[in-house]
Amino acid sequence: MTADDPFAHLHDEDYASPFDQLRVGHAQLVQTGGRLTEPVNGPWRLTLDLFDEGLRQRWYADDDTPPSQWALPRDYDVEAGEPVPVPSCWNLLKPHWYQFEGAGWYTTMLPWTPGPPGERVVLQFGGAASHALVFLNGQCVGGHAGASTPFSIEITQAIQAGPNRLQVMVENRRRADRVPMHHIDWFNYGGLYRSVELLRLPQVFLRRVAVGLVPGSNGGRVFVEVVASDPIDAEAEVIWPTVQEEPCRVQIRAGRGRIEIAAQPRLWSPASPTLHDVLVTSGQDRWQERIGFREIITRGHDILLNGEPLFLQGVCVHEDDEAVGKVSTLDDVERRLTHARELGANFLRLAHYPHHEHVARLADAVGVLLWAEVPVYWAIDFADPATYCDAENQLLELVTRDVNRASVILWGVGNENADTDARYRFMRDLAAAARAADPTRLITAACLIDRERFAIADRLAEHLDVIGLNEYFGWYEPDVSGLQRLIANSAPDRPVVISETGADAKAGHRGTGRQLFTEDWQAEFFRQQWHVVRGTPWIRGFAAWLLYDFRSERRQTRFQRGYNRKGLIAEDKVTKKLAFEVLSALFREETR
Ligand code: GCU
Repeated sequence: MTADDPFAHLHDEDYASPFDQLRVGHAQLVQTGGRLTEPVNGPWRLTLDLFDEGLRQRWYADDDTPPSQWALPRDYDVEAGEPVPVPSCWNLLKPHWYQFEGAGWYTTMLPWTPGPPGERVVLQFGGAASHALVFLNGQCVGGHAGASTPFSIEITQAIQAGPNRLQVMVENRRRADRVPMHHIDWFNYGGLYRSVELLRLPQVFLRRVAVGLVPGSNGGRVFVEVVASDPIDAEAEVIWPTVQEEPCRVQIRAGRGRIEIAAQPRLWSPASPTLHDVLVTSGQDRWQERIGFREIITRGHDILLNGEPLFLQGVCVHEDDEAVGKVSTLDDVERRLTHARELGANFLRLAHYPHHEHVARLADAVGVLLWAEVPVYWAIDFADPATYCDAENQLLELVTRDVNRASVILWGVGNENADTDARYRFMRDLAAAARAADPTRLITAACLIDRERFAIADRLAEHLDVIGLNEYFGWYEPDVSGLQRLIANSAPDRPVVISETGADAKAGHRGTGRQLFTEDWQAEFFRQQWHVVRGTPWIRGFAAWLLYDFRSERRQTRFQRGYNRKGLIAEDKVTKKLAFEVLSALFREETR
């Protein structure tokens, strides 16, 4: 073993993950910013590694090492790997891979022709479920934790002219110390399920740019904030003709710069999703985006979009597809937004992790409001500082990627987390991190009910702008009178959004009265819920759980068989249940 081998310790018996020392995060993340990217589109080969031999046997090492020189026998041969498409989830590629939870070794040849002197090369991953290590020509170039956020690995020093062997080990084990932890109510897909692309950048480039309305300026001031790739002094130019005729200049000092100017750009809203072309140049780099300017704030119990009170009426959605699992094709995203708008929704909660970046881009274009969140879900290991760092990094990667998406109005920092002092500190700090990273959005979480007082009471709420409430009165709780009692006992001082409410129904299963798992009861559930919710002035949003039935291995009644069936539409994404029409009529009644 060479001394500088970062995995040397792996060859001892105390095999431990090298992720910590090789992980990249939000500080390395590069916004693609309209730049041209080169897809790394294979062909890829995949070898599943159930016994974690890959790191121990150094499957990443050069193939041409003769076995006689191997320090350890290697039971690995790239060519023996199965040809697979990327992006994909291995679970749906072969029947015997369906429930595989372990490591998968992807390999492809990456041809590279050097660019101009000083050019920098970055591998841009849309997402890998859930932990990844990346190797180029046998050298580890970086790792990442988190299934649903993008990451950037610079390979300028490692890439060679001609063919390069690119290997990615993706591992999707569920573990108590991860984010999310081992117990979840969705399917644990694994693999390189989003794009892998090559980004060529100049010596100094714009890593991150944020553009928007200055909060509290009544739509009268706009800002541009830039973070350069390096702590240098430079200048950037902002060209945004529909915001201000004359270009603006941003002085960059030690890698950062910000301007604010008086301007009244045409605002973005669901009714009028106006987007402005913004081009920011600095040195050789060009960053461009289509930006919607809008203000989202709360005042008392109201949520105000551009100063107008808003009621968020909508539905939750998971990333889950019958054919491709967690892969979100553009068609799939368009279908989700089309169904949401058919429902009469102005709002989508993207449960319970960062969704594909297509979603917010399309929501910007068509005018749908979004709640985006990180998977701080249920019983996270709140006492572990490393788990907090993981959660905060995923949050800041989400913010970096979607900070310029007008449709995203809420950052969700957690979901149904039992209250302990460790949880309170963890989520208080996470909420503060979200606010510090992005003061232009509202912070929320699906909070708790105080069962003794039977009231909405969660000490975390003082650190949030909007209180999310998941409630299932009429499904997990006897009936909607519980919701009426809860409301009567509660006096929140800020807006509450019903962030989840729903009932299972097997499509085609009909019945009368409270026959559970029938379409009829699911529809009646929403009739009862809606009238209670709309009769409560401090409830300012309602998100049905959820748009489509989705895979969940913990759901094993005869009506579910591995699916959570609270969808308004079956998992085929075609068969609407009675509740879809009923809820759609209730939503439309509202907006008349
Ligand atoms: C919870 C949880 C969801 C889950 C839902 C259900 O509220 O947040 O992730 O799927 O209930 O039980 O269907």
